[in-house]
Amino acid sequence: MGKFEENFSLKKLNTFGINAKAKFFTEFDSVLELKDILNSNIYKNNKTFILGGGSNILLTQDYDGLMMQHKIIGICILEDNDNNIIVEVGGGVNWHEFVMWSVSQELSGVENLALIPGTVGASPIQNIGAYGMEVKETIHKVTALEISTQEIKTFSNEDCNFEYRNSIFKEELKNKFIITKVEFKLSKTPLNKTTYGAIEGELKTLNLEANPKNIADAVINIRNRKLPNPSEIGNSGSFFKNPIISSERFEELQKEFPNIVGYKMADTETKVAAGWLIDNAGLKGYRKGDAGVHKNQALVLVNYNNASGQDIINLSELVQEVILEKYGISIEAEVNFI
Ligand code: EPU
Repeated sequence: MGKFEENFSLKKLNTFGINAKAKFFTEFDSVLELKDILNSNIYKNNKTFILGGGSNILLTQDYDGLMMQHKIIGICILEDNDNNIIVEVGGGVNWHEFVMWSVSQELSGVENLALIPGTVGASPIQNIGAYGMEVKETIHKVTALEISTQEIKTFSNEDCNFEYRNSIFKEELKNKFIITKVEFKLSKTPLNKTTYGAIEGELKTLNLEANPKNIADAVINIRNRKLPNPSEIGNSGSFFKNPIISSERFEELQKEFPNIVGYKMADTETKVAAGWLIDNAGLKGYRKGDAGVHKNQALVLVNYNNASGQDIINLSELVQEVILEKYGISIEAEVNFI
């Protein structure tokens, strides 16, 4: 079994680059190793947290417990027919590497999700999404270890209760299961989801036809232009969720702010672009010490160098207050505070 490290620096293991330490740290690369950890005294006597790519967390202080990093890897084809394949992927596989594998096999279903940081095992938890695609559209099954019984359970797509940036693993099953592997159903026929305007534009500029590989390349270009690279400036992608408000309220806001951006979800509900709200409130590029609102995408908070978790919290609270005051909308963090 992997050993337990003490007083372990997490700076390199969280994309925000926050310099916090874990009292204990270990890794697991198989279910057997995971079970060994669950049966250890260090596990039993401490609070614990499962770390994937560390790309959707904010370490608010030193972690007074056991951090366990998920390293179960492997990509294995389970079924292959004329139209689809079903592929099983270890929860510790880097998400973007899986997307690149998928497009290299000329398979379709995850190409719009290229370059999302994090791991495959974390992808169902918040139903990652970008550029007109959500992972719930290709997830076939999720396999997870139940912590209390140490039994492996399998969840169908329906069992996962997927919603915008949400699933059963963030709600009633929060902290009860550790996702060990995910099965995806990928299509042999390209889906070519280019409706998200920016993709079509990018393909045109590059003079490329729509296919999974080219769509992934287009998304990579768009993301690299807009979103800060965590290896250069610490960040966790979108810091806030896009708030969902009644369409009636949205229409009222439109009178006052004619350029406000929103997407109708159903007739009665509209998802508002929080990036627009923050930008239009004049906060894009705002910086206090080493904590800031990114200059190209206002939904992203950044750590320029030495910001602490508390500095980022202070900034996020300021942003929330300004947005509430100006538009009467509460925005919630998408990132998990640890
Ligand atoms: N906008 C502004 N100013 C800004 C940022 C955005 O006016 O500073 C406007 C844009 O012009 C656009 C609208 O707001 O009209 C939406 O912006 P964008 O397309 O960049 O997407 P988003 O809603 O801000 C969401 C996801 C991203 C994902 C993109 C692309 C959430 C919380 N975020 O952002 O996901 O990459 O769509 O699909 O849903 C992430 O979750 O970490 C993430 C980066």
